[in-house]
Amino acid sequence: MTHNNPFEVARIDVNAGIDIEAMRSVISRSFTYTITAPTDEMYAYAIHSSLGDDVYEEASTKILEAHMATLFGKEAAIFVASGTMSNQLALRAHLFQPPHSILCDVRSHIHCYEAGGAAYHSQATVIPVIPSNSHHLTLDDVKKYIVTETDIHFSTTKVVALENTLNGTIFPQDEIIKIAEYCKSIDVRMHLDGARIWHVAAETGIPLDILCSPFDSISCCFSKGLGAPVGSCLLGSKALIARARGLRKLFGGGMRQIGFLAGCAAFALSNHFKLLPDVHDLARKLEQGLRNLGAQILVPAETCMVFYDPKPLGLDYLEISERAAALPLPIKAGGSRLVVHIQTSTQTVDDFLDLLKTMMAEKGILGVTNGHREVDYTNIYVRVKKTED
Ligand SMILES: Cc1ncc(COP(=O)(O)O)c(C=O)c1O
Repeated sequence: MTHNNPFEVARIDVNAGIDIEAMRSVISRSFTYTITAPTDEMYAYAIHSSLGDDVYEEASTKILEAHMATLFGKEAAIFVASGTMSNQLALRAHLFQPPHSILCDVRSHIHCYEAGGAAYHSQATVIPVIPSNSHHLTLDDVKKYIVTETDIHFSTTKVVALENTLNGTIFPQDEIIKIAEYCKSIDVRMHLDGARIWHVAAETGIPLDILCSPFDSISCCFSKGLGAPVGSCLLGSKALIARARGLRKLFGGGMRQIGFLAGCAAFALSNHFKLLPDVHDLARKLEQGLRNLGAQILVPAETCMVFYDPKPLGLDYLEISERAAALPLPIKAGGSRLVVHIQTSTQTVDDFLDLLKTMMAEKGILGVTNGHREVDYTNIYVRVKKTED
């Protein structure tokens, strides 16, 4: 009988055949969402983080959490694995006894992309509301759909969950304040999915603690606009975060030696947050270029994304995606949403606009074809194929 050496069999080299420089080029030419990669500088900083076990609250993560709580003007914070976990922990921590409901925008991540987590974890009904102004929920929208009565046919709303940015658009702060005052008056909690709240602060100049003061809980992500590899933070009162800490363990989300991840998040916060104004400028350049060609802009670039429809150019998403992928230096552009991030190169924007121009010329379409049509704002996110949300 032959025996393999178990240690030899277990050996693996996950770096075999991986070309990091080629990957960085792909990242810089991809209009997709969470693609940013850690830099050498980020790794070099993070390697000095503490080596403790975070189930017992390790040092670097604690420093990050305390800093975040101060920055956001809340009593406490907890570092968690993902934005989905952070949102779901918040909802679960707010909600006690079903039947109960959560009111949110019909396009929100909590409603669309969290695998039915509100029902699964919190036994909550979601009330998805279409914003009457096609941009953001208003106090009137909330009042119209919120369930406050003790009618036995309905589940009472216990949480209003807003998202800022949503599809890259900025929720006006005065409307948030109005909704929050109303919610407070009827004892309804306010949660913010602020995965991309950094963009709001960068664009409006309003400090994070002011933006977040109307909310009882906030989830924000280090792994989206800021470009850390992993991690989100949930912020709120001491009692809420203590409850979330217990629930995180229950969800299997207690993490061990994550000082390194806290280090990456801290580096991103210190060094990448300030890059966002340039990101927004580049997104606006992309939007303007699309407009100049005659594309229909479905959602303008208020921060880092633009949604467009190429039909007025005589083109469709699939052919654009295929031609972009076939360029000598390929570009990834999947559908209606184009996301600009801290590692998108200006050249990519120029090359993409040039490609559209070339494709139009090939079809003999030279100018604007004035294809303005009504937009269904609840259904603007068209994907060529199902990719990351
Ligand atoms: C607004 C918003 N909230 C939450 C999430 C979830 O974050 P994660 O992918 O880390 O679970 C995302 C992710 O794309 C998001 O865009």
